[in-house]
Amino acid sequence: MPVVVVVGAQWGDEGKGKVVDLYAERADMVVRYGGGANAGHTLVIGGQKIVTHLVPSGVLHPRARLVLGDGMVVDPITLLEEIAACRERGLLPDGQLLVSARAHVILPYHRWLEAVREDQKGAIGTTRRGIGPAYESKAARRGVRVCDLGRRGRLRELVEQNLDEISRLIGRAVPAGEVDRLIADAAAAGEALAPMIGDAGREVDRAIAAGQNVLFEGAQGTLLDIDHGTYPFVTSSSTIAGGACTGVGVGPTRIDRVIGISKAYCTRVGGGPFPTEMQGEEAEAWRAAGQEFGATTGRPRRCGWLDAAALRLAVRVNGLDGIALTKLDVARGRGPLKVCVGYRLDGALLDEPPGDAEELARAEPEYMELEGWQGESREARRIDDLPPAARTYISALERLVGVPMWLVSVGAERAETILLRDPFAG
Ligand code: IMP
Repeated sequence: MPVVVVVGAQWGDEGKGKVVDLYAERADMVVRYGGGANAGHTLVIGGQKIVTHLVPSGVLHPRARLVLGDGMVVDPITLLEEIAACRERGLLPDGQLLVSARAHVILPYHRWLEAVREDQKGAIGTTRRGIGPAYESKAARRGVRVCDLGRRGRLRELVEQNLDEISRLIGRAVPAGEVDRLIADAAAAGEALAPMIGDAGREVDRAIAAGQNVLFEGAQGTLLDIDHGTYPFVTSSSTIAGGACTGVGVGPTRIDRVIGISKAYCTRVGGGPFPTEMQGEEAEAWRAAGQEFGATTGRPRRCGWLDAAALRLAVRVNGLDGIALTKLDVARGRGPLKVCVGYRLDGALLDEPPGDAEELARAEPEYMELEGWQGESREARRIDDLPPAARTYISALERLVGVPMWLVSVGAERAETILLRDPFAG
C-alpha cells in the first residue's frame, strides 16, 4: 500500500524507465507529475526497445492505471502519436491512461519561440520540445490547459492572445490560415483525447485512500530542477520528490518512500557546469560503452565520474530513503574508478555543489580512487555475485551519501537486476 516516488538523482537519463518498469510490476497506479516530452524513458523487454516520452514507464503493465498529472506540459499531438505507437504493440488498452484536465498544453508556438531562443547566444541547449515556453505561459496565467481543448471559443481567445505576444518575440506575424489550422489541430487532438481526460488529482487521491500501490515517476533529474538544480542550466519544472505533491495534488504526508536513481557514473546533456566531466578518449569510451546518446534528441551525452557530492544534494532535497544504482555493468573493465567526494572552491572544501552555476564551474572536484574490476557482472542477481571491487564501489557510495542501496542494475533487461529492498513492502 505504500506511495513511492522515484526521482532522478543526477542530470536526468539515470535509467528511470527501467526502474519504474520493474517497480510498476507491483503498482496499481503510475503517475507522471512534471515535465513533458523532454523526457525519454527507455524500456528494454525481450531485446525490444521502447522509448516513451509522455506515457508513464508503467505502460508494459496493463494492470497499472497510468496518469499524467496536473503539473505536466502535454503536447496533445505527440501524446496521440505515442498512444498510437503503444497500441500498435498491443499496449495501452482503453481506460488505462488518464490525462489531467489541469495539465498545460504545448502548442506549436512554444516550439517556435524556443527555437528562436536556442539559436541565439546564451542558449542552454534545451530539448526544443517547447517545455520552457509552455511553463512560461502557465506562470504568466495565459496558458491553454487540457480542459480548454474542448472549448472552441476559449481556445481561440487564448491562442490569439498568446500569438499576439509570441509573434513579436519570434519576429514574424502568423498568417490567419496558420492560426486557424493550429486551433483546429489542437481541438481535434482534444476530441481524440476526451475519453482519457479527467480529474487526475482526485483519482490519485482515491487510489491512495483505497490502499493501492501508487508509484510517482519523476522526469529529468534533481540537478535539472528549476529551484535546486544548476540554474539557469535547468529545465522549467520541479523535478524533485516534492514536485510529486505540487504536480499531482497530494500532500507530503501521503508519500511513504523516495528512491533516487543514479548511474554508476554521471552524464549530462545540454549546457551547464559538470565538474566531473571526462574529456577526449576517456569520455568517448564511456559514451560508447554506456550508449550515451539522448533518447529524445539523439545528442551525445557528456560523460563524467560519479559525483557523490551532487548525490548528497539529491539525498537532501528529495529526502531519499535509498539509491537505485544503474548501469554498473558499464563500469566494468575501465581501470581505476574515480568518485568525487567534494569540491574545492576559493580554498574551502564543499560537500555539496554550490548553488551558483558560475561557482560550480570554477569548483575543483576532490576525488577518491577505487579499484576497477574485470569480471562480468550482468549475470549477478545478488550482491555477493558481484566482483569484490564492485561491492566495494557500492559500499563506498553508500558511506559517502549516507543512504543504502535499494537496487543495482547490471544490464538493460528487466532480469539484469539485483533487488535489495522492496519499495512496496509495508
Ligand atoms: P528542456 O527541459 O527541454 O527545457 O531542457 C533544459 C535542460 O534540461 C537541457 O540541458 C536539456 O538537455 C535537459 N533535459 C531536459 N529533459 C531531459 C531528460 O529527460 N534527460 C536529460 N536531460 C534533460
